[in-house]
Amino acid sequence: MSRRALPSRRAIDNGSIPLASSLQQKSRSSPFLTIGLVLVVAFLVIGYTYTGSGYDSEKDALNRGEGISCTAEVQRAIPILKKVYGDSMQKVLHVGPETCSVVSMLLKEEETEAWGVEPYDLEDADSSCRNLVKKGIVRVADIKFPLPYRPKSFSVVIVSDSLDYLSPKYLNKTLPDLARVSADGLVIFAGYPGQQRAKVSELSKFGRPAKLRSYSWWIRYFIQTGLEENQSASKKFEQVANKRSYRPNCQVFHLNSHS
Ligand SMILES: *[C@@H]1O[C@H](CO)[C@@H](O)[C@H](O)[C@H]1NC(C)=O
Ligand SMILES: *[C@@H]1O[C@H](CO)[C@@H](O)[C@H](O)[C@H]1NC(C)=O
Repeated sequence: MSRRALPSRRAIDNGSIPLASSLQQKSRSSPFLTIGLVLVVAFLVIGYTYTGSGYDSEKDALNRGEGISCTAEVQRAIPILKKVYGDSMQKVLHVGPETCSVVSMLLKEEETEAWGVEPYDLEDADSSCRNLVKKGIVRVADIKFPLPYRPKSFSVVIVSDSLDYLSPKYLNKTLPDLARVSADGLVIFAGYPGQQRAKVSELSKFGRPAKLRSYSWWIRYFIQTGLEENQSASKKFEQVANKRSYRPNCQVFHLNSHS
């Protein structure tokens, strides 16, 4: 389920058995070797704990049996996006399920205005979320239809999860519309193929099961529909992410706004 946590867990599971047995055999012959091996084991365990700690949001989601949420990933990526888009992160629109969580987080940042579009329903919204809706900061809107905003209303538009539930026919309308309302870029968070997504019981909310598309599918799709990748933003995102050892659990694409 967890794409990144699993291989490291496996590496330790495989590694710990031979290590433990060699520990027993060699403990008679060399105490130094034993200490060395104990240190190696401790190091592996600490390493695993450390790697695991970065995926709290994902683990929380998994514990709730919800699968991976790219909206949670947006929250983790906000500091990186701020580095990449700089001043352009002052007027942000987030589109995706549980947008209130992202909008609230962005509003806590200095000099940042944020709005949200919730593509599904807000049945179980808490009071702070209902407050955002009352103020008109968060709207519920079907993203299959043009968004109720003028061109270039926002500097950066970030969309998570929702595109995974749209067929190409609707993607053809929705993606250019998201690019239309942005001025300095459109950032897409999409699931990786093979990831566990929302439960079957939530399908009525999304209308259809998620279709998780591969990296090459998306790139081909962008080319077909004339959407251009923002190469410099993609490169910068990768650089900043590497520097901070941040590995997104979702695919992240940076597209140009329509000029
Ligand atoms: C989406 O748009 C592209 C490019 O305009 C077109 O080639 C493709 O057939 C469209 N797909 C659908 C399902 O309408
Ligand atoms: C490309 O990304 C940079 C941030 O790295 C941004 O400032 C610029 O406006 C983007 N270009 C377009 C055309 O969206």
